Amino acid sequence: MEDTPLSTDDGASAKSSSRYTLIAIALHGLLAIGLLYQLGLGVWMEDIPKSPPGIRAEWFNWHKSIGLVLGLLIVLRGAWRLSHRPPALPDHLPRWQTWTANANHALLYACMVIMPLSGFLGSSFTPYPIKFFGTALPRLWEASAAMKDALSAIHTACSYVFMFTIAAHIMAAFWHALRRDGILKRMWP
Ligand code: HEM
Ligand code: HEM
Repeated sequence: MEDTPLSTDDGASAKSSSRYTLIAIALHGLLAIGLLYQLGLGVWMEDIPKSPPGIRAEWFNWHKSIGLVLGLLIVLRGAWRLSHRPPALPDHLPRWQTWTANANHALLYACMVIMPLSGFLGSSFTPYPIKFFGTALPRLWEASAAMKDALSAIHTACSYVFMFTIAAHIMAAFWHALRRDGILKRMWP
């Protein structure tokens, strides 16, 4: 069977199952919890006062470490997604819903790539080392305030797009749950 990256259409394959694989469901659940936590943490930590010194930096380092772990999980998820065809959406769904779902999922994947990448790259341009659960990672290049500011702006702007897209995604999931049309079950163990 041929793989179709980022597409939920597997044509009229008789072999297609009606739900995602267990690995896809587990990664989806783990990342949903991790990303919602990380988004909340990111917004919350911005308000931590700079004095007394240390507390703000500790939370920022925690955010960076969790963000890097999430980045690794996202790579795993992407690899699984590209090598495993998702189940085709049911025929009874109107075309606009299939289109909106695909657009929503593509945007979610884009944000899942941009968030950890912009966070990591932005932090790599500050004068401080990135500490991964306490261990300083090697410096990749010279600090640059201009690069740091540009990547921070991308990180922050993308976080808002991400929150909006996730909110739409979760509302759609609940809407399908209320209609009992079986869509939620596709991503449920
Ligand atoms: C899964 C990925 C991530 C998510 C969802 C996420 C989310 C966020 C959010 C919501 C903010 C607050 C934005 C604001 O209100 O201005 C933030 C800020 C920040 N994040 Fe992340 N983040 C992620 C990964 C990372 C990584 C991997 C790093 C660094 C290794 C990082 C470093 C930072 C830093 C330094 C800030 C402070 C604002 C700035 O200088 O850009 N983040 N993040
Ligand atoms: C941070 C939160 C979340 C993110 C980033 C996220 C991301 C995604 C992505 C990218 C897909 C497409 C899977 C693919 O085809 O490869 C998906 C599917 C799905 N998600 Fe989420 N999700 C989140 C939270 C949730 C929550 C809380 C629910 C349920 C209440 C949910 C329910 C579903 C369902 C039912 C599908 C399958 C849709 C279909 O059948 O095509 N998601 N999610």
